[in-house]
Amino acid sequence: MTYTSALTKDIKEILVSQEEIDAITTRIAAEIDRDYKDTDGRLLLLCILKGSVVFMGDLMKKVTLPVEIDFMKVSSYKDGTVSSGRINILLDLHRKDLSECNIIIIEDIIDSGRTLSYLVNYLMINGARSVKTCTLLDKPERRHEDCKDFKPDYFGRVIPDEFVVGYGLDYAEQYRALPFVGILKPEVYEKK
Ligand code: IMP
Ligand code: MG
Repeated sequence: MTYTSALTKDIKEILVSQEEIDAITTRIAAEIDRDYKDTDGRLLLLCILKGSVVFMGDLMKKVTLPVEIDFMKVSSYKDGTVSSGRINILLDLHRKDLSECNIIIIEDIIDSGRTLSYLVNYLMINGARSVKTCTLLDKPERRHEDCKDFKPDYFGRVIPDEFVVGYGLDYAEQYRALPFVGILKPEVYEKK
């Protein structure tokens, strides 16, 4: 069956296809299995809402080690397509067993690097046993000065400095359900 969303007209170019995403989640799940198979403690995949929910759902099904899942929601005070840099926790983790948890933070995309840098620090301060980071997409060109050395432990692929949507990623809460990642036509956000 051919998939054609009503929103496809707003996509300039498909950047990461469904097939490529499938290969990425298979590879990352195998890396996680390899890295944690002899690790003591609980393995906790921590999904950062809302953008990472689709990636998390696919990835967790491919990890064969026992995993737990949890969720946090943060806002980086976005103004349209540009992040302001301040991080606010909208939904926190309320677990009493953080000292037993090997956390892998699951993100959709790293842009300035501030969200993930902040969260790694926050979780370590709150007593997590270990914290690693995993992102589907990375825009290393966009790293903020304060986070310029930040590298995720697991990542799908690097993308150019373009605003992308789909596979969980939104623009104004739209496009999250597209099964691929595509570049949004600039006229969609420029006209607003
Ligand atoms: P950072 O804190 O600047 O690294 O921002 C990361 C967050 O910005 C991601 O979790 C996304 O929610 C959002 N973001 C960054 N780039 C894009 C994009 O191209 N499309 C949609 N959301 C994006
Ligand atoms: Mg996000």
